[in-house]
Amino acid sequence: MSIAKQKQALLVDDEDPIRQLLTEIFASEFPEIQTSTAVNGREAIEKLRQNAYDILVTDLKMPEVDGLQVLEEALTLYPDIIAIAITGYGTIETAVRAIKLGAFDYLQKPFEVTALQLILKRAIEQKELREENLALRSQLRERYSFSNIIGLSDPMRKIFDVISMIGPTPSTVLITGETGTGKELIARAIHYNSARRDQKLVSINCGAIPENLLETELFGHVRGAFTGAHQNRIGKFEQAHRGSIFLDEIGTMSPMLQVKLLRVLQEREFERVGDNHTLKVDVRVIAATSADLASLVHEGAFREDLFYRLNVIPIAVPALRERRDDIPLLSQYFLKKFCDPTKELKVITQDAMRMLQNYSWPGNVRQLENSIERAVAMAGSRTQLHIEDLPLEVQQAPLQAASPLPGLPEAGLSLDDLVADTERRMISESLHLHHGNKQKAADFLRLNRTTLLQKMKRLGIESPAALPPAPAKKL
Ligand SMILES: Nc1ncnc2c1ncn2[C@@H]1O[C@H](COP(=O)(O)OP(=O)(O)OP(=O)(O)O)[C@@H](O)[C@H]1O
Ligand SMILES: [Mg+2]
Repeated sequence: MSIAKQKQALLVDDEDPIRQLLTEIFASEFPEIQTSTAVNGREAIEKLRQNAYDILVTDLKMPEVDGLQVLEEALTLYPDIIAIAITGYGTIETAVRAIKLGAFDYLQKPFEVTALQLILKRAIEQKELREENLALRSQLRERYSFSNIIGLSDPMRKIFDVISMIGPTPSTVLITGETGTGKELIARAIHYNSARRDQKLVSINCGAIPENLLETELFGHVRGAFTGAHQNRIGKFEQAHRGSIFLDEIGTMSPMLQVKLLRVLQEREFERVGDNHTLKVDVRVIAATSADLASLVHEGAFREDLFYRLNVIPIAVPALRERRDDIPLLSQYFLKKFCDPTKELKVITQDAMRMLQNYSWPGNVRQLENSIERAVAMAGSRTQLHIEDLPLEVQQAPLQAASPLPGLPEAGLSLDDLVADTERRMISESLHLHHGNKQKAADFLRLNRTTLLQKMKRLGIESPAALPPAPAKKL
């Protein structure tokens, strides 16, 4: 498999014959690569800034702007560029500096045509291998990742960290959070990022099923166990063997079932209803609740021992109003989801976005999702979403005093740091939103791609390449 996109090479030398020779070598040996030339360092840097190159061959010794400067610029703009330096006789030190800067290799003048061919072949092969690897890895990550959970706020990043950390373990997880905060999404991410991902994730909403039915749903029954039980039936725990079971709204479980569940958690065994044959299962339990289990324990409505058995790895998903930073990102995500993909993507006006960020969202992400869907419908063929397109409760919510910027602290502040933080945040969000596509992220921020790349480098932002937020890296 090779990479389809046509490669571009920039050939830089102040001597006409060498430039010509380089061009000829490329034309005869690598006709699939497009070449352009520059006669000095300044022109080279200009071209590098205007155009994305895959390959750079540059003479090191040139008047004014020398080859090392060209190399440095090229590697800053395109860290993956194949850079090859050409040095004069006896100037090995500059060649070493070029390699240290990140050049792939160097050639000494006068050079054999075959030497350049060899170096280029090797470099291109290595680069293609690396690209293939990256592509494969990102495909894998796409399959099992949690890139469908949007969020860059600190609490969400912590949750991503936990999900990646607990993947390999079989530990029981208890996810708590208000309705619509994304508990189920997180449960799925846990399963699909765990070693059990190829096995089943079986879900059951304990709150939606009457008690007597819930028991047989969970544990199954044998024929004749009760009137109407004409056949044996396997329950969710058996179905989930070797996989995971998601027990939603666990707080609604009756005391009798709580005892049975406790036993499964402790012994990994149970009986089907109406049977005394004990079954063993290997299941990872992921439970969720929008109720406050600790207070239910306090009131005596939920068993304390069961609570502790469930609460091995607690994940508390914050309400949306506690992570308002995520609102713009989520809104954009839903906007994309609901806009007609064959038409121009609608834009949320700044005023409307301010309203979205201001509202308290008692129904959390689900309510935001529904509101954006509705707003898209209300906007019809208009390309902008205005305040009037938002639900009345969002439009009429009292304005919060909070501004996204801090007030001036008494001790003063570093404006540079504040600006850098803001830049870092906006760039990361834009990259995330555009699945790591730098051109799109740049367009979104009204920057050109080169400027974006320079800023990323300066601010130490890694490209997310269709990634969920990098777990270890904090903004
Ligand atoms: N961080 C997120 N990124 C993208 N979509 C999200 C996020 N959180 C929630 N959603 C979406 O919001 C909706 C509600 O999420 P989910 O069903 O996981 O919430 P929940 O906490 O289980 O709610 P409930 O307590 O009502 O069952 C879903 O459509 C889900 O895809
Ligand atoms: Mg749910």
